[in-house]
Amino acid sequence: MDERNVKILAIESSCDDTCAAVLSGNLLLSNVVAGQQVHHDFGGVVPELASRAHQQNIVPVVDIALKKAGIKKEEIDAIALTRGPGLMGSLLVGVSFAKALSIGLNKPLIEVNHMQAHILSHFIRTPGEEFNPPSFPFLCLTVSGGHTQIVLVRDYFDMEILGQTLDDAAGEAFDKAAKIMTLPYPGGPLVDKFAALGNPKAFNFPTPHIPELNFSFSGLKTSFLYLVRDGKLANPNFAEEHKNDLCASFQYRVVSILIDKITKAAQQTGVKEIAIAGGVAANSGLRKAVAEAADKYSWKVYIPKMQYCTDNAAMIGIVGYYKFLKKEFADIDLVPKARLEFSKKA
Ligand code: KG4
Ligand code: ZN
Repeated sequence: MDERNVKILAIESSCDDTCAAVLSGNLLLSNVVAGQQVHHDFGGVVPELASRAHQQNIVPVVDIALKKAGIKKEEIDAIALTRGPGLMGSLLVGVSFAKALSIGLNKPLIEVNHMQAHILSHFIRTPGEEFNPPSFPFLCLTVSGGHTQIVLVRDYFDMEILGQTLDDAAGEAFDKAAKIMTLPYPGGPLVDKFAALGNPKAFNFPTPHIPELNFSFSGLKTSFLYLVRDGKLANPNFAEEHKNDLCASFQYRVVSILIDKITKAAQQTGVKEIAIAGGVAANSGLRKAVAEAADKYSWKVYIPKMQYCTDNAAMIGIVGYYKFLKKEFADIDLVPKARLEFSKKA
């Protein structure tokens, strides 16, 4: 077998998206994501509803991914799965399904850390597109619904977390601000949309002074909450009438906090290869600010395609590929882990 063409089926079910992808080596053949509407009105993911929806979605999602890739399940060389971090009930569905398939097809399993996968999504090769991955070492600002981290990436599996949030994640902050304005879940993309129509200087939110390369977003969330609450006392339609300015000002502050810290990390390490990853990497304000910082500081920046920012299985597959090359297979008795750290040499 030419290892550069190994066929990896990847499964991701850590939160509220049921995802499957097929890769041939580092080349993506298919990438299927089934979102879950059930959480829309709850202001966040309801874990029990998420795992039930995963159970309904997983068989058709995997089936479609194989069909789109044009391969039969017998042709798969290995099955990569998200072991964690994530919601236990959601992870269990993907892990159990992958195990059953592994036994049925007699193919090895490869376990993947979801946060490492967000970072390594930069190494997915998209058919027909230029392939321009970061060079090692690079810094990755990983910003999602559950995490906000600055990671020094020395090699595929040699990563060190230099800083992270002490409370809320950046995506969580976006979602909570949206909820305060009674926007549906997930609010991040909506805040982004309305921000484009507003004035980022209309409201001045404070910058938290957090030591080193760590972050905090809970103070910002509280000042947003108080601003909207007080505004509503004077005018019950305050949030609605000022929606665009509120979104623009909030997004401006989140982005400036993120850019400040990644700039500090670049200065401290001397690394000028800068990547962003995770759901919040889809934010247009952050994408623009990173590109501007690149010009200012002579960085080379890596901004993922939209389909690789939010949760997807292509990123699980690329980690699967690099682990396959190292023959790093998982035991059939592996269990999911809601909290899964990645060590320096994971
Ligand atoms: O990586 P992801 O899909 O799931 C986790 O691993 O958490 O990230 C989801 C998060 C949500 O909080 C969502 O609101 C946020 O990413 N997000 C955005 C945007 N698109 C997704 N936040 C701000 N602007 C966006 N365009
Ligand atoms: Zn994620």
